[in-house]
Amino acid sequence: MSELDRYAVLGQPISHSKSPRIHQLFAEQTGENLQYNAIEVPAEQFTDLVTSFFANGGKGLNCTVPLKELAWAYAEFKTERAQLAKAVNTLVLQKDGSVLGDNTDGIGLVTDLKHNHGIVLSGKRILILGAGGASRGIISPLLAEEPENIVIANRTLTKAQQLVTEFTEKGNIGACGFEDLSTQSFDLIINATSSSLTEELPPLSDDLLSKQGSCYDLAYSNKATVFVRWGLEHKALKSLDGLGMLVEQAAEAFFIWRGVRPQTAAIIDLLNAERH
Ligand code: ATR
Repeated sequence: MSELDRYAVLGQPISHSKSPRIHQLFAEQTGENLQYNAIEVPAEQFTDLVTSFFANGGKGLNCTVPLKELAWAYAEFKTERAQLAKAVNTLVLQKDGSVLGDNTDGIGLVTDLKHNHGIVLSGKRILILGAGGASRGIISPLLAEEPENIVIANRTLTKAQQLVTEFTEKGNIGACGFEDLSTQSFDLIINATSSSLTEELPPLSDDLLSKQGSCYDLAYSNKATVFVRWGLEHKALKSLDGLGMLVEQAAEAFFIWRGVRPQTAAIIDLLNAERH
């Protein structure tokens, strides 16, 4: 019997990653024969490990924190969305032996918002909190949905302004500090700060979310995050965390590698049921 095609997720830490489980479920569902492991890799060993993984027959890799920028630098060729994101979460060995880098995070978010939750993006006002790597990864797929505008608000205003300059040609996008938000309201607020991890919230005014507006936290946790709770307290139509995005970005990577698109709904339901 021939050896199984090998894939892996690289990160540090990685032991709590749900990706091996998700890809195993995708493989069972689609009848694809593959192996997918989690490998803990310190940044300084990243290049050697990736080179030897592909040299030894590995077919594809996911890269997560803190390795997405290194993966971007590693990839010889990049998709436009990865180029703009300056981060790569999916590496694929191509037929000619070169390595292509893609970023499926933003499209994973858009798919979760639109297809899983019926949230309309076209013509809407979108606020992104935070101007780090997580924000950068989602901007171009969100702009492609033609919202009325996207505002990036950040504690450090210069970082938001810098980010905006990189995307101005792609759509209507602006930057501001949190203190400038008090007179504005948005149909969708996305938390892309790392503050959920410390249970902190940026200062958000009570009128920031439009009536029937929704909230989305890129982070996920077994309990509702502090931002998801803020959304619920402010009568969000939907106040969601990033579990659906996690599954959808994985489905997009699986499709890139295998040419088969898994059905995600049952898998999201399963992972949701395991939270409690
Ligand atoms: P990531 O790659 O996850 O985006 P990052 O590049 O370190 O991580 O960026 C973290 C983001 O969260 C930044 O926008 C940061 O704001 P600053 O640029 O002002 O540092 C934001 N952030 C982190 N903790 C925060 C807090 N307690 N309140 C508000 N913003 C916070």
